Amino acid sequence: MLATSLIASALLAAPAFAATAEQWRNRTIYQLVVDRFATPDGSSPACDTSNRVYCGGTWNGVVSKLDYIQDMGFDAVWISPVVANIEGTTAYGEAFHGYWTQDINALNSHFGTASDLQALAAALHKRNMYLMVDIVVNHVASPKNPPDYTIFTPFDQASQFHTEVFIQQADYTTNQTAVEQGWLGDTNLPLPDIDTEDPNIVSTYNTWVGQLVSNYSVDGLRIDTVKHIRQDFWPDFAKSAGVYTVGEVEDNRTDYLAGYTKVIDSVLDYSTYYSVFPAFSSTSGNLSTVSQVVQEAQSSFNNGEFFVGSFIENHDQPRFQSITTDQALVMNAMSWPFIQDGIPILYYGQEQGYTGSNDPANREALWLSGYDTNKTLVKHVTKLNAARRAAAAADSTYLTTGAKFLIAAPNTLAVQKPGVLALLANGGNSSTPQWTVPNAGFKANEVLMDIVACTTVTADGNGGVTVTGSGGMPLILMPTAVGSPVCSSTASSTPASSQKNAASVLATQIFGVTLAAILAAAVTVM
Ligand SMILES: *[C@@H]1O[C@H](CO)[C@@H](O)[C@H](O)[C@H]1NC(C)=O
Ligand SMILES: *[C@@H]1O[C@H](CO)[C@@H](O)[C@H](O)[C@H]1NC(C)=O
Ligand SMILES: *[C@@H]1O[C@H](CO)[C@@H](O)[C@H](O)[C@H]1NC(C)=O
Ligand SMILES: *[C@@H]1O[C@H](CO)[C@@H](O)[C@H](O)[C@H]1NC(C)=O
Ligand SMILES: *[C@@H]1O[C@H](CO)[C@@H](O)[C@H](O)[C@H]1NC(C)=O
Ligand SMILES: *[C@@H]1O[C@H](CO)[C@@H](O)[C@H](O)[C@H]1NC(C)=O
Ligand SMILES: *[C@@H]1O[C@H](CO)[C@@H](O)[C@H](O)[C@H]1NC(C)=O
Repeated sequence: MLATSLIASALLAAPAFAATAEQWRNRTIYQLVVDRFATPDGSSPACDTSNRVYCGGTWNGVVSKLDYIQDMGFDAVWISPVVANIEGTTAYGEAFHGYWTQDINALNSHFGTASDLQALAAALHKRNMYLMVDIVVNHVASPKNPPDYTIFTPFDQASQFHTEVFIQQADYTTNQTAVEQGWLGDTNLPLPDIDTEDPNIVSTYNTWVGQLVSNYSVDGLRIDTVKHIRQDFWPDFAKSAGVYTVGEVEDNRTDYLAGYTKVIDSVLDYSTYYSVFPAFSSTSGNLSTVSQVVQEAQSSFNNGEFFVGSFIENHDQPRFQSITTDQALVMNAMSWPFIQDGIPILYYGQEQGYTGSNDPANREALWLSGYDTNKTLVKHVTKLNAARRAAAAADSTYLTTGAKFLIAAPNTLAVQKPGVLALLANGGNSSTPQWTVPNAGFKANEVLMDIVACTTVTADGNGGVTVTGSGGMPLILMPTAVGSPVCSSTASSTPASSQKNAASVLATQIFGVTLAAILAAAVTVM
């Protein structure tokens, strides 16, 4: 009996990674809203996003669909917040998204139990994948106004909150104190702002985050509303977490984001997002702005752009295909996070071509897609992941060398990283974009593979390329020795989850040792 419970706890606890930013550098992240990703029994209940109610996804559901995520090449999963939220309906529906905290010490029972969450971490770790958990420390949510503070745990007194004053739009550019100490939400659903100036609250939070990470074997944290807490709160908090921290600082100003890259590992790359999204969403977008913003970030962010979370979609923003369904623009935009310096993030459903606009429409149930892996965008992202991995394996400087813009015109971009040249365009599906890149860093007359169309392009005598694109599609060029396997492996019918044998064999061996040691210890004790 003793041995059995020791084995059970070893299975849950043994393979934790508690990964640093450096260990996250070569990863790619699949972001999902737990309530909307997968049901535990594989059923497909209706889920009308406009109702804003729980639809039935759980942590066990996520475990059941890890092959789907891993087969696309992702090796990390960012899940929506896990803590207990306010129950029942509010002016804005139910707390299915998890961002309406009530009790930071309890889990949201709609998503499962503590052992279910631990089992999700263990299932990911067994696949050599990381778990990123989303946390909110700036505020709680109140179904009533004024709030009844006694419903909250552990901060249950009015004196532990800032005074109720809602942040005004103008404050965002003129009054940082108001941004930090004012309240989000509105009188229908206020988000009471915790007094994170109070040293007792700071210390409670620092202890809490360390325990959250260790209780659930968390490898990284996505932190909500980071700009709403004073910057000097964050270094100790991040240190107490002890894992990679990437913060949401929703702002289009690169210099504003830069400040936060000095207090936590990095930020979601919102300033680039605000240039990339419009630049690719119409044929009159301006791709030059992308190079301008990225170069500013490369020089002003701590660690440049290397640890930013790079994205085109998330749960707070309209999906790309709510703006345009031109598949050439979609394929170009979707490529961006995978060819730049930071850590790529794909928001669940983008690969299935989901078109939801603003919240709540952008939180569709993924089960309604049938997890179809025959979709063009599923195949595209699978190649993008494989290409990034192959590039990093082929050249150890790939992940530590900043992207260079060899072309930064309004309608074409050529982005170079060691061993990879990405040719992007926003001319749309009837355009024939042209790129002339005199010295692209390839070998003279080298034969290159475009991993998007899986056709070859030959470099000129100076290692440059002159390419005319077709149907507005992007090209991602790599030497054929590196690019051909990307095309053949992703075209094959063998999914990555059945090629993970090496990793699971290794895990089994490590596990074998761990279990044997524990059994030996148990025998000794008995
Ligand atoms: C900024 O906001 C704070 C908090 O709401 C307020 O006390 C202060 O007067 C504001 N400052 C200015 C210059 O408006
Ligand atoms: C972590 O587990 C400990 C021991 O069971 C518990 O006291 C603590 O509240 C837990 N913390 C979190 C954030 O889950
Ligand atoms: C940020 O957005 C605001 C509002 O849309 C706009 O006025 C401003 O020019 C933008 N700033 C940058 C740096 O893009
Ligand atoms: C495109 O953006 C660049 C860089 O911000 C700017 O210099 C240029 O004037 C813009 N071009 C057009 C056509 O708007
Ligand atoms: C190009 O995209 C537009 C917008 O989605 C669509 O209406 C049109 O059918 C597409 N054309 C081709 C040739 O795919
Ligand atoms: C996969 O998609 C292609 C083209 O969209 C289609 O021709 C083919 O029948 C699909 N295969 C399966 C197994 O659904
Ligand atoms: C990331 O780097 C680690 C350590 O070097 C390596 O074990 C792992 O295979 C790499 N993962 C990818 C996806 O390249």
